[in-house]
Amino acid sequence: MKKRDLISKRVKDIPPSGIRRFFDIIASMDGVISLGVGEPDFVTPWHIREAGIYSIEKGYTSYTSNYGLLELREEIARYLKVRHNLDYDPERELLVTVGVSEGVDLALRAILDPGDEVVIPDPSYVSYTSCTVLAGGVSVPVPTAIENDFKVKAQDIDKRINPRTKAILLGYPNNPTGAVMDREELLKVAEVAQRHSLVVISDEVYERLVYGVEHTCFASLPGMRERTILLGGFSKAYAMTGWRLGYAAATEEIIEAMMKIHQYTIMCAPTMAQMAAIKALKDGEAQVQEMVAEYNQRRRVMVKGLNDIGLTCFEPRGAFYTFPSIKSTGLSSDEFAERLLLEERVAVVPGSTFGQCGEGYVRCCYATSMAEIEEALERMGNFVKRHRTQ
Ligand SMILES: Cc1ncc(COP(=O)(O)O)c(C=O)c1O
Repeated sequence: MKKRDLISKRVKDIPPSGIRRFFDIIASMDGVISLGVGEPDFVTPWHIREAGIYSIEKGYTSYTSNYGLLELREEIARYLKVRHNLDYDPERELLVTVGVSEGVDLALRAILDPGDEVVIPDPSYVSYTSCTVLAGGVSVPVPTAIENDFKVKAQDIDKRINPRTKAILLGYPNNPTGAVMDREELLKVAEVAQRHSLVVISDEVYERLVYGVEHTCFASLPGMRERTILLGGFSKAYAMTGWRLGYAAATEEIIEAMMKIHQYTIMCAPTMAQMAAIKALKDGEAQVQEMVAEYNQRRRVMVKGLNDIGLTCFEPRGAFYTFPSIKSTGLSSDEFAERLLLEERVAVVPGSTFGQCGEGYVRCCYATSMAEIEEALERMGNFVKRHRTQ
């Protein structure tokens, strides 16, 4: 009898994560300095942890509203008003999600019909393309390049739009490049979205991690609130990756659609994490600023260090990544990362993991201690000396 195919074609066609292979190798090695993982090396500030612990002690162990605790939604609404002068109705226009990860998935599933296209800057965060495909859509990469500091140009988006295009998915500050788009550049993207009646999904999980520049919230641009699904979270700014909490802000119609999926698949985000997030928003600003100041120092050391050893690196203005060119070694980004790990025990992520335009680059995360960054730079310097071809 013919063996039945158990796994759906859609899932089979998704390539395995390029990052996972490296973590399997790292797990079997000692003395590795990891610039690989994209998460804060800080633990969640104590008073925020305490709020989570206290919520358990008080017995807040049941489900919350599908939308999330109203008190948390009110805090998020207040935050968006204060930071971006945006008005969202906490009862109808905000949804608390299991991280921005769930927000990306819900946003795409809520708006896409089979074959709808989503325009996505390349390179970008790995889940955008896979979630688009899982939602039945087609991802259309828009190349970005070091010559423009990896910012996406509105005219390049415009060229890729056709009647099947439904949305633009932006993630700035960007993972993996650290690029930040300024207001003028985003206004041009907004004009394209307006002209073609597109939805803009804006992943702003790194909005607080910017250095010497302003973050512009896409929904705050004229006319954009009505067509933007704004995704925000707690993982990066408050060092809360493990709590799994984020939110989506959009029109009632879109939030209602996202909520339909969320209520059947997730029910609600973890209650203790929601209680901790209330504390973070009410009382976490000082710690955010301390962590940002620390990241900024590490960023400077890393950018200078990479350029000094011959890995040309543009100055990233956001998130906690540098994205140096490794072209001087003649190695592909996959080869570079694998050999650097085996020869010098430093883990970085091949740029090609994040899209074709990432080839020739590697992602180095500086959310690690200064001592480790300095040691990693020394080891990378030795590696480059041995492999330099130019
Ligand atoms: C651009 C981007 N979006 C979303 C996420 C996921 O965030 P969360 O922990 O809120 O699910 C990450 C995590 O690395 C990210 O880099």
